[in-house]
Amino acid sequence: MNQKQKKNSIPDSSTGLYGIIGHPVAHSLSPVMHNSAFKATGLNNVYLAFDVTDLEDAVKGIRALGIKGVSVTVPHKESVMKFLDEIDPVAKKIGAVNTIINRNGRLLGTNTDWIGAVKALEEGAGRLDTKKVLVLGAGGSARAVVAGLTERGARVLIANRTLEKAKDLAEQFDARWYSFDELPDVEANIVVNTTSVGMEPNQDTSLIPAELLPKYPIVMDIVYSPLKTKLLKEAEAAGCKTITGLRMLLFQAVAQFELWTGMQAPAEVMERALYKTLKKSNE
Ligand code: ATR
Repeated sequence: MNQKQKKNSIPDSSTGLYGIIGHPVAHSLSPVMHNSAFKATGLNNVYLAFDVTDLEDAVKGIRALGIKGVSVTVPHKESVMKFLDEIDPVAKKIGAVNTIINRNGRLLGTNTDWIGAVKALEEGAGRLDTKKVLVLGAGGSARAVVAGLTERGARVLIANRTLEKAKDLAEQFDARWYSFDELPDVEANIVVNTTSVGMEPNQDTSLIPAELLPKYPIVMDIVYSPLKTKLLKEAEAAGCKTITGLRMLLFQAVAQFELWTGMQAPAEVMERALYKTLKKSNE
């Protein structure tokens, strides 16, 4: 069990090390969320960002240095799997790992992105088992969102630019698939953009024509830079309820903290740290 940290104490020889591996990671918001959570719970841990290009060596480093838990982000979520000792069934099904847990030297890969997506949607939309959800995209992020929706019993529809990918994903999760051209005929309670369309520096793009938005009462974008994407701005103007990508980011981190520590995460502290950092970086 982790030793408790005295208030404001500096790291010492019993400090537990956690971190994120990705490339680039300079703007990752995970360090502020996790460090604020460690501080609030009094755990003697620190969380650092590691910009990693040699993934195999980085994973050896996790083992060699006894790093206790690691978040994995773009572009390593899929390629890291082959270097780990065990992948849990949910990460296998999604085909991506965003969380590594070091259990006495054995590295277990799991995925909390699906939990993040589901919690963000449940917070904004309530129960999902009665909902029809249109997912835009069929890449790695879409797989996590679709896995979460399926787990909660939602009816899932997938639309993607490359139809073959939409079909493959839909078949795996027993969903329906569409091309973007068919969207005028597709009704759903919720739409979730899982693609990078709308992300800086291409913030003037959106996959759904504004005139179709009134068909979707709740609109979520997993993109959070900018916080209000073109899709969300247009959805708001159309009277839809909107959910930003920051909610998913927060809840996937909350789930990571709980897996690593076995403690309830101080979600409000993490949320405050996240929003404060973003506000500062936008000033
Ligand atoms: P991630 O892990 O972030 O999901 P990915 O696996 O590369 O990244 O998937 C990217 C998704 O965004 C895909 O669904 C991709 O569509 P294609 O399968 O047709 O490539 C979608 N995407 C990216 N740029 C897009 C664009 N300009 N227009 C439409 N879809 C786009």
